[in-house]
Amino acid sequence: MTLDEADLTRICDLLYRHTGILVPGNRRPFIERRVLERMRATGAGTLPVYLARLRADAEGEVQLFVNAFTVNETYFFREEHQLRCLTASLLGPLTAGRSRHDPIRIWSMPCATGEEPYSLAIWLLEHWPEVDAWEIEIVGSDIDTRALAAAQAGSYGARALMRLPPALVARYFIPQEAGSWRILPDLRDSVRFTRRNLVDGAGMAREGRFDVVFCRNVLIYFDDASRGVAADNLFASLRPGGFLCLGHTESMARIPSRFQTRRFPDAIVYQRPEDAHD
Ligand SMILES: C[S@@+](CC[C@H](N)C(=O)[O-])C[C@H]1O[C@@H](n2cnc3c(N)ncnc32)[C@H](O)[C@@H]1O
Repeated sequence: MTLDEADLTRICDLLYRHTGILVPGNRRPFIERRVLERMRATGAGTLPVYLARLRADAEGEVQLFVNAFTVNETYFFREEHQLRCLTASLLGPLTAGRSRHDPIRIWSMPCATGEEPYSLAIWLLEHWPEVDAWEIEIVGSDIDTRALAAAQAGSYGARALMRLPPALVARYFIPQEAGSWRILPDLRDSVRFTRRNLVDGAGMAREGRFDVVFCRNVLIYFDDASRGVAADNLFASLRPGGFLCLGHTESMARIPSRFQTRRFPDAIVYQRPEDAHD
């Protein structure tokens, strides 16, 4: 079975509405493969039958549909220069004059299968001398529930660990059978995982305000309109003076936003001004 151009357009529109992801023309074969897989898995013989199932959200099909199209590529210590920037340039101003009882809140959004929030935890333990003096809360969120389940399980293969120095793998992971490593239970429990959607402002607001948000390697999949919605939601998720780190190929250049661009030695970061209102 194959899908025609009109079918694919309907599917891409649905995906866009649920996630903000805009599928480029050359990715259409990927979309077709994934829809056909979902149709097979649900026993839907035709696209209209599958679309009716989606509309009714039968057995949680909307979430399974979204999970099928996400790209979860990630690994430990990805874009390490931003981790360096966190400890060298961001935590100083964030903690100056602050009460030790006021937790430092860091959000990895989206976190995919968990490598990013766990990297943040490991980086702070290894590189921030004040780590024990502060209460630190790290939250990992993603729209993909399958990726979140993997994050929660905390078991990783060699590819995910390729940038992590072997001494750190030995310190924070337990070797498993078949070439995988499980993150230490204490470290795993130090990160809280939740399902959140970058284009759903009300859902994002339920996580409260953060000091630093890492939103890396997702806005590349959005168009200018959904990027603008995500930027507004991220702005509202930050405390005044809080920082947003984007992936190195991403910027706020084409998005009208109220962030201030801050150039630090290790990275360019976006800051919510101290006096900004929502
Ligand atoms: C390439 S991964 C990036 C993971 C990590 N931030 C990194 O840089 O390694 C992109 C993730 O964005 C998630 N995603 C896509 N659309 C989303 C949305 N609207 N809200 C939240 N997460 C989304 C996908 O599920 C996927 O796990």
